[in-house]
Amino acid sequence: MKITALNGFKDILPGDIELWQRVESTAREIFSRFQFSELRLPILEKTELFARSIGEATDIVEKEMYTFVDKGVTMRPETTAQMIRAYIEHGLYAQRPIQRLFTIGPMFRHERPQLGRLRQFHQLDAEVLGTDNPRIDAEVMAMGSMLLERLGISVSLEMNSLGCPECRPVFRQRLLAFLEERMDHLCDDCKRRSTTNPLRALDCKNPTCREQVADAPSILDNLCEGCADHFQVVRSCLDKLKVPYSLNKFMVRGLDYYCRTTFEFITGDLGAQSAVGGGGRYDGLVEKLGGPKKTPGIGFAMGLERLVLLLQQQEKEQEKRQEELDIFVAGLGPVASEVCFDLVHELRKQGLRVGIDHEGKSLKSQMKQADKAGATHVLIVGEDELARGEGVLRNMTNQEQQDIALDPQVIGTKVSGR
Ligand code: HAM
Repeated sequence: MKITALNGFKDILPGDIELWQRVESTAREIFSRFQFSELRLPILEKTELFARSIGEATDIVEKEMYTFVDKGVTMRPETTAQMIRAYIEHGLYAQRPIQRLFTIGPMFRHERPQLGRLRQFHQLDAEVLGTDNPRIDAEVMAMGSMLLERLGISVSLEMNSLGCPECRPVFRQRLLAFLEERMDHLCDDCKRRSTTNPLRALDCKNPTCREQVADAPSILDNLCEGCADHFQVVRSCLDKLKVPYSLNKFMVRGLDYYCRTTFEFITGDLGAQSAVGGGGRYDGLVEKLGGPKKTPGIGFAMGLERLVLLLQQQEKEQEKRQEELDIFVAGLGPVASEVCFDLVHELRKQGLRVGIDHEGKSLKSQMKQADKAGATHVLIVGEDELARGEGVLRNMTNQEQQDIALDPQVIGTKVSGR
């Protein structure tokens, strides 16, 4: 019997590894600009670490962790909790009041594999521990945006605030009252979670739930003064740094440790897996895991597989574009064909990729050839146009047509947009 890799576990082969290396080295370069230091952490941790930090009622802890039940250990599903474990265990807080740390490595979640979703995946993870200064929130998001920009990946940054232990319970009650009126229409998951974490109904993917919560109260209208002020400063800092973002009142994130600022880097190019990265603030977590009191933190993680997939898509598009013709010249009849023969050569001399048919095919058939070759323009030269010294230039992207002089310079300038 042939033994293959497990479902959701992937080999990364030569040919693909170069993109991985590019992403990792770009991340290291950008992170060092922001004074982040690298650390490497083990794959296995005590199960309790993840259960206590991520939350017992989350999808990750409830159903996705690879746990050796008899040994009480789990293969890390994420690394924020273990970063904090290491920060506490090695007294990193005593070395520097504010620690900026990052790590790169594999994570494990027993999810249903699909494009951009694996059971072993890799994260770039960056965390700042020891400050709740809203400027840091903006800096961390700006760092993520800078990395993506440097990689040439375009995403949108969505942001929300989840409040704090003072204002979130009040909002929770308000939301619960809203959900209770609609409970019959919610999916089983949302019904079940309404007692443990009703906020999860806000980001449920079920279309009916989405409809039901469309008018739900927004946490952004229910923040206490401290959280509202904090969020306002984060926003104005992002504006100052010229980092574009939008607010998403439905974003709650799938891990329980968040408070205040939460954010995601979103793409429309990976089907159902829209998040390239996500993160947020977790001001109570260090203390909860036994570290020094009042040690706030914020960070994010990006999925390497998703970054690499986006880069691969880009490369494919570029290759396709390189193969595409700038113009296909369709001469109709022997005289026009003769004129087109020279014209095509002149256009090629200008550096354009040009297609032509020498077989005297019909216009319909030549248009088909042009389409197949991905030509962005077609120049049609019939006997009538020829008599006027003109052709008809059709832009294949927007289907606009115009008469144009049969002058290679004029045509070349129009087609290349110079
Ligand atoms: P997360 O949103 O669970 O957050 O994961 C962060 C990123 O990891 C996702 O946006 C995605 O790109 C990638 N990812 C997650 N699951 C998979 C999967 N099954 N297959 C492929 N890629 C995946 C966290 O893990 C938090 N620890 C982030 C954080 C850091 N918050 C604060 N600091």
